[in-house]
Amino acid sequence: MSSQTVWITGASSGIGEALALRYAMDGASLVLSARRKEELERVAGLCRDAGLPADQVLVLPLDVTDWESLPGAVQSVLHTFGTIDLLVNNAGVSQRSLCEDTDMAVYQKLMDVDVMGQIALTKAVLPHMQERGSGHLAVTASVAGKVGVPQRTGYCAAKHAVMGFFDALRAEVEGQGIDVSTIVPGFIRTDISRNALAGDGSAFGKLDDNIAGGMDVTECAEVVFKGLNAKKREIPVGKGKEMAALWIKRVSPEALFRIIRS
Ligand code: NAI
Repeated sequence: MSSQTVWITGASSGIGEALALRYAMDGASLVLSARRKEELERVAGLCRDAGLPADQVLVLPLDVTDWESLPGAVQSVLHTFGTIDLLVNNAGVSQRSLCEDTDMAVYQKLMDVDVMGQIALTKAVLPHMQERGSGHLAVTASVAGKVGVPQRTGYCAAKHAVMGFFDALRAEVEGQGIDVSTIVPGFIRTDISRNALAGDGSAFGKLDDNIAGGMDVTECAEVVFKGLNAKKREIPVGKGKEMAALWIKRVSPEALFRIIRS
């Protein structure tokens, strides 16, 4: 059983929820963050049902784009549990729109949530880990952080950016006893496409065929859990053709581009 404190953002649904449940089964002390308190309370209830003592789960609503609130949130966690062993920057929003149909406000929001929010919370937690000389920082990036695909110009830009940030951060802090993991999911069956932004900023509202046929979210959480426990620097997770894109890109970017275009 775990004695670590694990803070998961985007814990109110999908991958974050499934990962919270997996850590609850492992006995970790959990901090659950996202914007909707009632959904976080629901997930906290599931964690308690899985056997986690009530005093080992903290519901901490926050918006990752509200940077000024984040240092205060870190203090709340430290006040409750004393340490933060693992931060999983998992909150995120996707996109479903062609570039020519996408408002600048949508690009801004994708960057704010998927990049700046992860950086801001990581920067707020980092001094605590540096002081202790240990800790683990993770981000849920995406295959879209390695490969450019249509209708995701802003999402791919954001996920490439966040991948670059955490790869560079790893090079800075690994020698200080701090591990950095980038999680690289392919298609995972969650509400990601329903919650994705259309070009005008409204919710896309539909389940994609790719997402509908994606990996089960509990299976995904198991792969991520094992990868994080093994302190893997990169954790690919998925079961479909999109995972092949990762190595085709390495071997032949030109071949991959032709496949994506077709
Ligand atoms: P989801 O839509 O179910 O979960 C997104 C979570 O982020 C929700 O809890 C939501 O409330 C939270 N969130 C969104 N904006 C926020 C904000 N401003 N502040 C705080 N929390 C916020 O979708 P899913 O699939 O669970 O997504 C989790 C992560 O996985 C995201 O970063 C997503 O980009 C990434 N991902 C998902 C894939 C998939 O196929 N489902 C594939 C690749 C990456």
